[in-house]
Amino acid sequence: MRDRKAKGIGLAIVGAGRVGLFRGEVAARHPQVEWIGIAEKNPERAKLVAQKVGADFVTADHRELLARSEVNAAIIATDEHLHVDPIFSALERKIPLLIEKPLATDLADSARVAHAIRSAGVDAVVGYTQRFRRRWLAAKEKVQSGALGDVTLVTSRAFMNRLVAIDNYRRTDKPETISPMVISGTHALDIVMWMMEAKTPVECYARSIDKVLGPEWKGIDSTAGMIMFSDGSVYHLAMTWSLPVTWPAAVYSLEVGIVGTTGVLTIDDTHRDIVLAVSAPQSEGYLPDKSRLVDFMGSYPPGDMALGELRGPMRDETESWLNRVSLGVPTPATTVEEAHNRLMLTKALDLSARRRAPVKLPLAPEDEAY
Ligand SMILES: NC(=O)c1ccc[n+]([C@@H]2O[C@H](COP(=O)([O-])OP(=O)(O)OC[C@H]3O[C@@H](n4cnc5c(N)ncnc54)[C@H](O)[C@@H]3O)[C@@H](O)[C@H]2O)c1
Repeated sequence: MRDRKAKGIGLAIVGAGRVGLFRGEVAARHPQVEWIGIAEKNPERAKLVAQKVGADFVTADHRELLARSEVNAAIIATDEHLHVDPIFSALERKIPLLIEKPLATDLADSARVAHAIRSAGVDAVVGYTQRFRRRWLAAKEKVQSGALGDVTLVTSRAFMNRLVAIDNYRRTDKPETISPMVISGTHALDIVMWMMEAKTPVECYARSIDKVLGPEWKGIDSTAGMIMFSDGSVYHLAMTWSLPVTWPAAVYSLEVGIVGTTGVLTIDDTHRDIVLAVSAPQSEGYLPDKSRLVDFMGSYPPGDMALGELRGPMRDETESWLNRVSLGVPTPATTVEEAHNRLMLTKALDLSARRRAPVKLPLAPEDEAY
Protein backbone atom coordinates (compact mmCIF):
# COMPACT_ATOMS: atom_id res chain seq x y z
CA MET A 1 0.00 0.00 0.00
CA ARG A 2 1.29 3.43 -0.86
CA ASP A 3 1.50 5.86 2.00
CA ARG A 4 1.48 9.16 0.21
CA LYS A 5 -0.45 12.27 1.22
CA ALA A 6 -0.66 14.89 -1.50
CA LYS A 7 0.06 18.43 -0.30
CA GLY A 8 -2.23 21.25 -1.51
CA ILE A 9 -0.37 23.89 -3.50
CA GLY A 10 -0.70 27.69 -3.23
CA LEU A 11 1.21 28.75 -6.34
CA ALA A 12 2.87 32.10 -6.99
CA ILE A 13 3.71 32.86 -10.63
CA VAL A 14 6.15 35.76 -11.02
CA GLY A 15 6.17 37.00 -14.62
CA ALA A 16 3.05 36.23 -16.61
CA GLY A 17 4.47 36.38 -20.12
CA ARG A 18 4.36 33.49 -22.57
CA VAL A 19 5.85 30.94 -20.18
CA GLY A 20 3.98 32.24 -17.10
CA LEU A 21 0.70 31.77 -18.98
CA PHE A 22 1.59 28.27 -20.25
CA ARG A 23 2.60 27.06 -16.81
CA GLY A 24 -0.34 28.85 -15.15
CA GLU A 25 -2.84 27.13 -17.43
CA VAL A 26 -1.30 23.73 -16.71
CA ALA A 27 -1.29 24.47 -12.96
CA ALA A 28 -4.94 25.57 -13.05
CA ARG A 29 -5.84 22.03 -14.19
CA HIS A 30 -3.69 20.24 -11.59
CA PRO A 31 -5.77 18.61 -8.83
CA GLN A 32 -3.46 19.72 -5.99
CA VAL A 33 -3.31 23.40 -6.97
CA GLU A 34 -5.72 25.18 -4.64
CA TRP A 35 -4.71 28.81 -5.11
CA ILE A 36 -2.87 30.77 -7.84
CA GLY A 37 -1.43 34.27 -7.46
CA ILE A 38 0.22 36.25 -10.24
CA ALA A 39 2.79 39.06 -10.20
CA GLU A 40 3.12 40.78 -13.57
CA LYS A 41 4.54 44.25 -14.20
CA ASN A 42 2.49 44.88 -17.33
CA PRO A 43 -1.13 45.56 -16.17
CA GLU A 44 -2.80 44.57 -19.46
CA ARG A 45 -0.93 41.29 -19.53
CA ALA A 46 -1.66 40.68 -15.83
CA LYS A 47 -5.38 41.10 -16.44
CA LEU A 48 -5.41 38.76 -19.44
CA VAL A 49 -3.40 35.99 -17.77
CA ALA A 50 -5.31 36.28 -14.46
CA GLN A 51 -8.55 35.77 -16.32
CA LYS A 52 -7.18 32.84 -18.38
CA VAL A 53 -5.85 30.91 -15.37
CA GLY A 54 -8.61 32.00 -12.97
CA ALA A 55 -6.08 33.62 -10.61
CA ASP A 56 -7.08 34.26 -6.98
CA PHE A 57 -4.71 37.20 -6.56
CA VAL A 58 -2.98 39.62 -8.95
CA THR A 59 -0.34 42.27 -8.32
CA ALA A 60 2.43 44.11 -10.15
CA ASP A 61 4.80 43.58 -7.20
CA HIS A 62 6.44 40.17 -6.78
CA ARG A 63 7.29 40.95 -3.14
CA GLU A 64 3.62 41.47 -2.31
CA LEU A 65 2.72 38.16 -3.97
CA LEU A 66 5.53 36.18 -2.36
CA ALA A 67 4.56 37.51 1.09
CA ARG A 68 1.03 36.08 0.83
CA SER A 69 0.26 33.38 3.39
CA GLU A 70 -1.40 31.11 0.76
CA VAL A 71 1.87 30.79 -1.20
CA ASN A 72 3.85 27.57 -0.65
CA ALA A 73 5.52 27.18 -4.07
CA ALA A 74 6.64 29.61 -6.80
CA ILE A 75 7.44 29.73 -10.49
CA ILE A 76 9.89 32.47 -11.52
CA ALA A 77 9.12 33.19 -15.19
CA THR A 78 10.46 36.71 -15.64
CA ASP A 79 12.74 37.73 -18.52
CA GLU A 80 16.14 36.00 -18.55
CA HIS A 81 18.01 38.91 -16.92
CA LEU A 82 15.30 39.54 -14.28
CA HIS A 83 15.23 36.26 -12.33
CA VAL A 84 17.55 37.23 -9.47
CA ASP A 85 15.38 39.67 -7.40
CA PRO A 86 12.27 37.45 -7.35
CA ILE A 87 14.43 34.40 -6.46
CA PHE A 88 15.85 36.21 -3.42
CA SER A 89 12.32 37.30 -2.36
CA ALA A 90 11.07 33.71 -2.69
CA LEU A 91 14.02 32.35 -0.69
CA GLU A 92 12.84 34.33 2.35
CA ARG A 93 9.85 31.97 2.42
CA LYS A 94 11.98 28.81 1.83
CA ILE A 95 9.39 27.46 -0.62
CA PRO A 96 10.04 25.06 -3.54
CA LEU A 97 10.90 26.91 -6.77
CA LEU A 98 10.71 26.32 -10.50
CA ILE A 99 13.01 28.92 -12.07
CA GLU A 100 13.17 29.58 -15.80
CA LYS A 101 16.50 29.12 -17.55
CA PRO A 102 19.14 30.49 -17.39
CA LEU A 103 19.51 30.85 -13.61
CA ALA A 104 20.89 34.37 -14.28
CA THR A 105 22.62 36.01 -17.23
CA ASP A 106 25.68 37.02 -15.21
CA LEU A 107 28.00 34.33 -13.84
CA ALA A 108 28.60 36.10 -10.49
CA ASP A 109 24.81 36.49 -10.01
CA SER A 110 24.30 32.84 -10.87
CA ALA A 111 26.94 31.77 -8.31
CA ARG A 112 25.34 34.06 -5.69
CA VAL A 113 21.86 32.66 -6.38
CA ALA A 114 23.06 29.03 -6.36
CA HIS A 115 24.86 29.61 -3.05
CA ALA A 116 21.79 31.27 -1.47
CA ILE A 117 19.50 28.43 -2.59
CA ARG A 118 21.90 25.82 -1.20
CA SER A 119 22.24 27.69 2.12
CA ALA A 120 18.46 28.07 2.44
CA GLY A 121 18.01 24.31 1.82
CA VAL A 122 15.28 25.09 -0.73
CA ASP A 123 14.15 22.51 -3.32
CA ALA A 124 14.66 24.54 -6.51
CA VAL A 125 14.78 23.26 -10.10
CA VAL A 126 15.46 25.12 -13.34
CA GLY A 127 13.26 24.95 -16.45
CA TYR A 128 15.38 23.04 -18.94
CA THR A 129 12.15 21.87 -20.54
CA GLN A 130 13.68 19.76 -23.33
CA ARG A 131 14.62 17.03 -20.85
CA PHE A 132 10.92 16.23 -20.72
CA ARG A 133 10.62 15.36 -24.43
CA ARG A 134 10.31 11.59 -24.63
CA ARG A 135 13.15 11.25 -27.12
CA TRP A 136 15.66 12.84 -24.71
CA LEU A 137 14.42 10.80 -21.75
CA ALA A 138 14.80 7.63 -23.88
CA ALA A 139 18.31 8.73 -24.95
CA LYS A 140 19.27 9.39 -21.32
CA GLU A 141 18.07 5.91 -20.36
CA LYS A 142 20.23 4.30 -23.08
CA VAL A 143 23.35 6.28 -22.13
CA GLN A 144 22.84 5.71 -18.41
CA SER A 145 22.22 1.99 -18.76
CA GLY A 146 25.47 1.61 -20.73
CA ALA A 147 23.95 0.61 -24.11
CA LEU A 148 26.58 2.73 -25.90
CA GLY A 149 29.52 1.72 -23.72
CA ASP A 150 31.73 4.64 -22.74
CA VAL A 151 30.58 7.81 -24.53
CA THR A 152 33.58 9.32 -26.37
CA LEU A 153 32.13 11.92 -28.75
CA VAL A 154 28.89 13.92 -28.82
CA THR A 155 27.85 16.36 -31.54
CA SER A 156 24.97 18.83 -31.41
CA ARG A 157 23.69 21.18 -34.09
CA ALA A 158 21.12 23.78 -32.96
CA PHE A 159 19.56 25.86 -35.74
CA MET A 160 17.31 28.75 -34.73
CA ASN A 161 15.22 31.39 -36.42
CA ARG A 162 16.47 34.95 -35.89
CA LEU A 163 13.01 35.91 -34.49
CA VAL A 164 14.21 34.66 -31.09
CA ALA A 165 17.48 36.57 -31.23
CA ILE A 166 15.85 39.86 -32.19
CA ASP A 167 13.20 39.40 -29.48
CA ASN A 168 15.99 38.95 -26.90
CA TYR A 169 18.20 41.81 -28.09
CA ARG A 170 15.18 44.14 -28.21
CA ARG A 171 14.42 43.42 -24.51
CA THR A 172 17.87 44.24 -23.12
CA ASP A 173 20.08 47.30 -22.77
CA LYS A 174 23.09 45.01 -22.15
CA PRO A 175 23.52 43.06 -25.39
CA GLU A 176 26.95 41.86 -24.26
CA THR A 177 25.24 39.66 -21.62
CA ILE A 178 22.91 38.10 -24.21
CA SER A 179 24.42 35.51 -26.53
CA PRO A 180 23.06 32.60 -28.55
CA MET A 181 24.95 30.23 -26.23
CA VAL A 182 23.71 31.76 -22.95
CA ILE A 183 20.05 32.20 -23.92
CA SER A 184 19.31 29.28 -26.26
CA GLY A 185 22.40 27.13 -26.82
CA THR A 186 22.04 26.30 -23.14
CA HIS A 187 19.09 23.96 -23.97
CA ALA A 188 21.17 21.74 -26.30
CA LEU A 189 24.11 21.98 -23.92
CA ASP A 190 21.99 20.87 -20.96
CA ILE A 191 20.74 17.83 -22.87
CA VAL A 192 24.28 16.81 -23.83
CA MET A 193 25.84 17.54 -20.43
CA TRP A 194 23.04 15.52 -18.83
CA MET A 195 24.13 12.59 -21.02
CA MET A 196 27.77 13.27 -20.00
CA GLU A 197 27.03 13.85 -16.30
CA ALA A 198 29.59 11.32 -15.12
CA LYS A 199 32.39 13.25 -16.87
CA THR A 200 34.36 16.38 -15.94
CA PRO A 201 34.76 19.18 -18.51
CA VAL A 202 38.29 20.63 -18.34
CA GLU A 203 38.72 22.94 -21.34
CA CYS A 204 36.74 24.58 -24.14
CA TYR A 205 37.41 26.36 -27.39
CA ALA A 206 34.97 28.36 -29.57
CA ARG A 207 34.58 30.91 -32.37
CA SER A 208 31.63 33.25 -33.01
CA ILE A 209 30.30 35.15 -36.03
CA ASP A 210 28.34 38.45 -35.93
CA LYS A 211 27.61 39.47 -39.52
CA VAL A 212 23.80 39.47 -39.25
CA LEU A 213 23.01 40.53 -35.67
CA GLY A 214 26.20 42.47 -35.03
CA PRO A 215 25.57 45.68 -36.94
CA GLU A 216 22.04 46.49 -35.67
CA TRP A 217 21.88 44.72 -32.30
CA LYS A 218 25.54 44.38 -31.20
CA GLY A 219 24.67 40.71 -31.12
CA ILE A 220 26.20 37.36 -32.03
CA ASP A 221 24.87 35.16 -34.89
CA SER A 222 26.50 31.81 -34.27
CA THR A 223 29.01 30.03 -32.08
CA ALA A 224 30.83 26.80 -32.82
CA GLY A 225 33.04 25.09 -30.30
CA MET A 226 34.32 22.08 -28.44
CA ILE A 227 34.26 21.05 -24.80
CA MET A 228 36.99 18.62 -23.74
CA PHE A 229 36.61 16.22 -20.77
CA SER A 230 39.23 14.91 -18.35
CA ASP A 231 38.97 11.37 -19.79
CA GLY A 232 39.70 12.58 -23.37
CA SER A 233 36.09 12.57 -24.61
CA VAL A 234 34.84 15.53 -26.65
CA TYR A 235 31.58 17.46 -27.14
CA HIS A 236 31.47 19.25 -30.51
CA LEU A 237 28.70 21.85 -30.83
CA ALA A 238 27.33 24.45 -33.22
CA MET A 239 24.62 26.95 -32.39
CA THR A 240 23.11 29.66 -34.56
CA TRP A 241 20.13 31.97 -34.02
CA SER A 242 20.61 34.01 -37.18
CA LEU A 243 18.58 32.00 -39.69
CA PRO A 244 16.17 34.02 -41.88
CA VAL A 245 12.66 34.62 -40.52
CA THR A 246 11.37 32.43 -43.36
CA TRP A 247 13.34 29.40 -42.04
CA PRO A 248 10.53 26.92 -41.30
CA ALA A 249 11.42 26.24 -37.66
CA ALA A 250 9.97 29.22 -35.74
CA VAL A 251 12.30 28.49 -32.81
CA TYR A 252 14.49 25.41 -32.18
CA SER A 253 15.74 22.68 -34.50
CA LEU A 254 18.27 20.26 -33.00
CA GLU A 255 20.28 17.22 -34.08
CA VAL A 256 22.44 15.22 -31.69
CA GLY A 257 24.80 12.27 -32.22
CA ILE A 258 26.19 10.29 -29.28
CA VAL A 259 29.11 7.97 -30.06
CA GLY A 260 30.18 5.36 -27.55
CA THR A 261 32.71 2.54 -27.53
CA THR A 262 30.01 -0.10 -28.17
CA GLY A 263 27.15 1.85 -29.73
CA VAL A 264 25.86 5.05 -31.28
CA LEU A 265 22.61 6.98 -30.88
CA THR A 266 21.40 9.73 -33.22
CA ILE A 267 18.42 11.92 -32.37
CA ASP A 268 16.56 14.06 -34.89
CA ASP A 269 14.77 16.81 -32.97
CA THR A 270 14.56 19.16 -35.97
CA HIS A 271 10.75 18.92 -36.15
CA ARG A 272 10.78 18.54 -39.92
CA ASP A 273 8.48 15.54 -39.43
CA ILE A 274 5.45 17.88 -39.25
CA VAL A 275 5.45 20.58 -41.94
CA LEU A 276 2.60 23.08 -42.18
CA ALA A 277 2.27 25.20 -45.34
CA VAL A 278 -0.51 27.81 -45.53
CA SER A 279 -1.63 30.59 -47.85
CA ALA A 280 -2.35 33.09 -45.04
CA PRO A 281 -0.18 33.75 -41.97
CA GLN A 282 -1.27 32.10 -38.70
CA SER A 283 -2.03 34.06 -35.53
CA GLU A 284 -0.88 31.35 -33.08
CA GLY A 285 2.62 30.27 -32.12
CA TYR A 286 5.84 32.03 -31.24
CA LEU A 287 5.82 35.69 -32.43
CA PRO A 288 3.51 35.24 -35.43
CA ASP A 289 5.11 36.91 -38.47
CA LYS A 290 3.30 37.58 -41.73
CA SER A 291 6.21 36.47 -43.91
CA ARG A 292 6.14 32.94 -42.41
CA LEU A 293 3.86 30.62 -44.36
CA VAL A 294 5.72 27.34 -43.75
CA ASP A 295 6.27 25.97 -40.26
CA PHE A 296 7.99 22.97 -38.69
CA MET A 297 5.31 22.48 -36.05
CA GLY A 298 6.71 21.57 -32.63
CA SER A 299 9.82 23.74 -32.88
CA TYR A 300 8.66 26.05 -30.07
CA PRO A 301 10.28 24.39 -27.03
CA PRO A 302 7.25 24.64 -24.67
CA GLY A 303 5.03 22.71 -27.14
CA ASP A 304 1.90 23.57 -29.13
CA MET A 305 -1.58 24.70 -28.21
CA ALA A 306 -4.15 22.14 -29.36
CA LEU A 307 -7.84 21.95 -28.46
CA GLY A 308 -7.41 24.71 -25.91
CA GLU A 309 -4.50 23.14 -24.00
CA LEU A 310 -0.71 23.19 -24.18
CA ARG A 311 0.60 19.85 -25.45
CA GLY A 312 4.27 19.13 -25.18
CA PRO A 313 7.31 19.19 -22.90
CA MET A 314 6.45 22.29 -20.86
CA ARG A 315 3.16 20.75 -19.85
CA ASP A 316 4.89 17.50 -18.84
CA GLU A 317 7.62 19.42 -17.01
CA THR A 318 5.14 21.64 -15.12
CA GLU A 319 2.97 18.68 -14.10
CA SER A 320 6.06 16.75 -13.03
CA TRP A 321 7.21 19.69 -10.87
CA LEU A 322 3.75 20.11 -9.31
CA ASN A 323 3.84 16.38 -8.44
CA ARG A 324 7.32 16.83 -6.98
CA VAL A 325 6.00 19.66 -4.75
CA SER A 326 2.75 17.93 -3.89
CA LEU A 327 3.91 14.31 -3.47
CA GLY A 328 7.63 14.71 -2.89
CA VAL A 329 8.43 12.41 -5.85
CA PRO A 330 11.84 12.73 -7.58
CA THR A 331 11.86 14.19 -11.12
CA PRO A 332 14.54 14.49 -13.85
CA ALA A 333 14.46 18.32 -13.67
CA THR A 334 17.72 20.26 -13.92
CA THR A 335 19.16 21.07 -10.51
CA VAL A 336 20.44 24.51 -9.55
CA GLU A 337 24.03 23.18 -9.54
CA GLU A 338 23.55 21.85 -13.07
CA ALA A 339 21.98 25.14 -14.20
CA HIS A 340 24.91 27.11 -12.82
CA ASN A 341 27.28 24.70 -14.59
CA ARG A 342 25.41 25.29 -17.90
CA LEU A 343 25.74 29.07 -17.51
CA MET A 344 29.44 28.67 -16.65
CA LEU A 345 30.03 26.53 -19.77
CA THR A 346 28.14 28.86 -22.12
CA LYS A 347 30.03 31.86 -20.67
CA ALA A 348 33.35 30.01 -21.08
CA LEU A 349 32.53 29.27 -24.74
CA ASP A 350 31.66 32.94 -25.31
CA LEU A 351 34.89 34.02 -23.59
CA SER A 352 36.94 31.61 -25.69
CA ALA A 353 35.34 33.03 -28.85
CA ARG A 354 36.14 36.60 -27.74
CA ARG A 355 39.73 35.70 -26.85
CA ARG A 356 40.17 33.33 -29.79
CA ALA A 357 41.94 31.05 -27.34
CA PRO A 358 41.10 27.94 -25.30
CA VAL A 359 39.61 28.51 -21.82
CA LYS A 360 40.30 26.24 -18.84
CA LEU A 361 37.23 24.97 -16.96
CA PRO A 362 35.55 25.71 -14.65
CA LEU A 363 35.45 29.44 -15.45
CA ALA A 364 35.42 31.62 -12.31
CA PRO A 365 33.00 34.60 -12.20
CA GLU A 366 35.91 37.07 -11.91
CA ASP A 367 37.32 35.78 -15.23
CA GLU A 368 34.14 36.61 -17.16
CA ALA A 369 35.48 39.95 -18.46
CA TYR A 370 33.80 41.63 -21.45
N1 LIG B 1 11.79 26.40 -20.67
C1 LIG B 1 11.57 26.78 -21.91
O1 LIG B 1 11.43 26.00 -22.83
C2 LIG B 1 11.44 28.23 -22.16
C3 LIG B 1 10.84 28.70 -23.35
C4 LIG B 1 10.74 30.08 -23.53
C5 LIG B 1 11.24 30.94 -22.56
N2 LIG B 1 11.82 30.43 -21.44
C6 LIG B 1 12.34 31.30 -20.38
O2 LIG B 1 11.25 31.80 -19.62
C7 LIG B 1 11.51 33.12 -19.17
C8 LIG B 1 10.38 34.04 -19.64
O3 LIG B 1 10.29 33.97 -21.04
P1 LIG B 1 8.97 34.45 -21.81
O4 LIG B 1 9.15 34.00 -23.22
O5 LIG B 1 7.77 34.06 -21.05
O6 LIG B 1 9.17 36.03 -21.71
P2 LIG B 1 8.03 37.16 -21.74
O7 LIG B 1 8.70 38.42 -22.10
O8 LIG B 1 6.88 36.69 -22.57
O9 LIG B 1 7.54 37.20 -20.21
C9 LIG B 1 8.25 37.74 -19.15
C10 LIG B 1 7.26 38.53 -18.30
O10 LIG B 1 7.80 38.81 -17.02
C11 LIG B 1 7.33 40.10 -16.61
N3 LIG B 1 8.21 40.55 -15.53
C12 LIG B 1 9.54 40.78 -15.57
N4 LIG B 1 10.03 41.06 -14.34
C13 LIG B 1 8.97 41.00 -13.47
C14 LIG B 1 8.81 41.16 -12.08
N5 LIG B 1 9.85 41.43 -11.27
N6 LIG B 1 7.58 41.05 -11.54
C15 LIG B 1 6.51 40.77 -12.32
N7 LIG B 1 6.59 40.59 -13.67
C16 LIG B 1 7.80 40.69 -14.23
C17 LIG B 1 7.37 40.93 -17.87
O11 LIG B 1 6.53 42.06 -17.77
C18 LIG B 1 6.88 39.90 -18.91
O12 LIG B 1 5.47 39.95 -19.09
C19 LIG B 1 12.90 33.47 -19.70
O13 LIG B 1 13.86 33.18 -18.74
C20 LIG B 1 13.06 32.52 -20.90
O14 LIG B 1 14.40 32.20 -21.21
C21 LIG B 1 11.91 29.11 -21.21
